Formats: sequence, structure tokens, C-alpha cells
Amino acid sequence: MSEKGISLLDGSQLLRPEPAFADKPVAAFRDYSVDDLDPVKKRVKDTYYAMHGNVTVEFVKQKRAKWLQFNHFKSTIKDALIRLNSLVDESDPDSELPNIVHAFQTAERIRLDHPDDDWFHLTGLIHDLGKVMAFYGEPQWCVVGDTFPVGCRWADSIVYGHDSFKDNRDTYNPKYNTPCGIYTPGCGVEALTMSWGHDEYLYRLLKHNRATIPEEGLFMIRYHSFYPWHAGGDYAHLAGTPRDEHIKQQVLKFNKYDLYSKSAAVPDIEALWPYYESLIDKYIPGVIEF
Ligand SMILES: [Fe+2]
Ligand SMILES: [Fe+2]
Repeated sequence: MSEKGISLLDGSQLLRPEPAFADKPVAAFRDYSVDDLDPVKKRVKDTYYAMHGNVTVEFVKQKRAKWLQFNHFKSTIKDALIRLNSLVDESDPDSELPNIVHAFQTAERIRLDHPDDDWFHLTGLIHDLGKVMAFYGEPQWCVVGDTFPVGCRWADSIVYGHDSFKDNRDTYNPKYNTPCGIYTPGCGVEALTMSWGHDEYLYRLLKHNRATIPEEGLFMIRYHSFYPWHAGGDYAHLAGTPRDEHIKQQVLKFNKYDLYSKSAAVPDIEALWPYYESLIDKYIPGVIEF
């Protein structure tokens, strides 16, 4: 951790992949070091600075009001996933591939280790589907990237550290800048208002459309980007109950597949669709509301 709290080696690296898991070294993932001459590093940093400068309690309230009506479009899960073909995540230092490739890489890597848990394969496939918000006027900085709660002090382990929040007006609001802020100690992770992004949106969308994916899968979807909690070790004073610990274990079980499958080979998506369509039919069939 540097002076400014820039995390060069964050806690996610504690989740070591199996030796044959990835074809690049563990320490090379989630590198948020600053180098404005490197176009990828500059893009990632600019995305996070825009996010951290703008995401306030009020902003999240507005985004929830806008997106949780599910009146933007109707689509099957498959067609919505196909749209991710034209999305490259600007916050991701580890993948330059369209998000649909990442979806299949994650799902297939899970399937290899957990062949019988078909809901887990589907969870891997759809976990980033909430990123479709980027096609409806949302800048990537409020769709992608790591998440954190608003309404309390920014944790030290958030990527790019406190410097990246200097333009955020909540940083200077005494209601919001204490360790607990608007929350009570031990309130639990589910009581936190998270920075707006694809995790919470997809979780709510699946509930709204009555998906039958088991609770574990929904936890994985809802908190997979909450790195300052599940990898950074922060927020234990708010989200450290036995139930939180249970939720965190599910998220960690998922996260190594999300992160370390990014350097894997590109799967044959066309050949894999029939299997994954059968899972969509089982857990979240038909045309759904986004
Ligand atoms: Fe994600
Ligand atoms: Fe992902």
C-alpha cells in the first residue's frame, strides 16, 4: 500500500489459483499501479477516478429509482448476453476481450471443478449481465468495477485509495464520513447501500423476474465486485456477522473463477450455447424485464 493508499497488491491475490488455472502469474492480476503513459492503466484509473468522484448516497438513490423499475427493455437472457459482445470493460486491467467471452470463460472454468452444480455454471455465465446498463446511457464508471458502500467512510483497501475520492462531496459530509456513517455496527452486508453497479442491478433483476437460482448464486452475483470486503478485509465492523461470513464464503468460492479465468483460452461459444440455453430455460426462462 502506498502513501496515497494505492493498492499495488490487493487482497484478491490471497485467493491463489490452481497452478494450471491461468497462464499468467497470480501477482499480475488486478494491478492498479499508476502509469499514465500506459493506455490500459490510464483507462482503468480514469474509470475509477470518475466513479469515486461521482458516486454519492444521492447518486445511488437516483440510479436505484431509475433502474429498479425494470422498464428499460425486454429480452431473453441469451439475447441480453449476446449484447455483451460489444462491451469491453474499461475498469478491467486483466481482459481486453468482449464481456461475452469472459462470461463463457468463467462458466466453463466453474463447470470443470463443479460439474454437478448446474446453477453455478449459469451463475458464472450471467454474473456480469448487469453491464447491459452501459447500452442505455450509463457511463461505464457506474456500471463496472469494484463496489463499496456509500454513506460511510471510504475503506483503505478501495483501489486508488482516498485520493480518488477527493472530488466526491460525501467525503466531506460528517453524516457520511465516519466508520459507520448511516449504518449501525453489525448491520450486515445486505443492509449496506452499495455503489451503483452491475452486481446489485442483476441481483435485483433476478429477484424481480423470479429466477430460481439458489441463494448462494444470488450472493455471488450481488457481492462479487465488493473486493474491499471479500478480499481487502475491510468493513468487518458493519458486515462481520456469521451470516455475512457465510455470504462471503460463497462469494470467495465464485471469485477465483471470475478473476483467474480471464487469461484462459477463448471457448467455442457457438458449441456451448445449447447447454447454457438449457440452464436458462431451467432457472430464468422466457422474455424478462430489464
Ligand atoms: Fe462483474
Ligand atoms: Fe466478471
